[in-house]
Amino acid sequence: MMRILVLISGSGSNLQVILDHCASGKIAGQVVGVISNKADAYGLIRAKEAGVATSILAQQQFASREEYDTALQALMADYQPDLVVLAGFMRILSGDLVRHFAGKMINIHPSLLPKYQGLHTHQRAIDAGDSEHGASVHFVTEELDGGPVILQARVPIFEGDTADEVAARVQAQEHSIYPLVVRWFCEGRLQMVDGAVQLDGTLLGPAGYACE
Ligand code: GAR
Repeated sequence: MMRILVLISGSGSNLQVILDHCASGKIAGQVVGVISNKADAYGLIRAKEAGVATSILAQQQFASREEYDTALQALMADYQPDLVVLAGFMRILSGDLVRHFAGKMINIHPSLLPKYQGLHTHQRAIDAGDSEHGASVHFVTEELDGGPVILQARVPIFEGDTADEVAARVQAQEHSIYPLVVRWFCEGRLQMVDGAVQLDGTLLGPAGYACE
């Protein structure tokens, strides 16, 4: 059974679908811990309801980003994860930490990477007049939101859409693609090889295993 560690900062809706998929046996893994940098993250309640251990590591406890990341890396290692899942964890991680978990840390980002790295992705897509948007699951590398893409899902943007409407449409897709990628990883089908993604022994292109 793969040991999955999930890092969150907020609602934890992606955490919830991963917990549900583990509970139903669709993912051959177990969420062994949830770490949040926010004490009031609703995802912590979801974890507790699922009987999963939680830890809170707040920035205020540390003098610098480096000290925070050193403590975070040690805390993460305590859970002995086979896979680290960033699920709305809204912090930039240091190079040392990212290198330590290289090939076993994944993130979900609400855009069709490489478009719209960073924040406010839905509004930026609307402002640019894009007719489609989406979400990407990728391996985490030292480049922020720049690691190789594993799977993307696309959604339309309609005339007059608000950022909240687009966000809801994107999140519904996130809840399909994130557990699927976690499932692939736990089945040993997914690797990062020389900075690219390999699924079932085949190297994927820059858009990953794209799906509509
Ligand atoms: C998700 O939409 C995810 O794509 C985004 O945070 C949300 C977390 O929702 N992540 C980022 O913006 C990372 N750059 P959740 O807490 O309900 O899973």
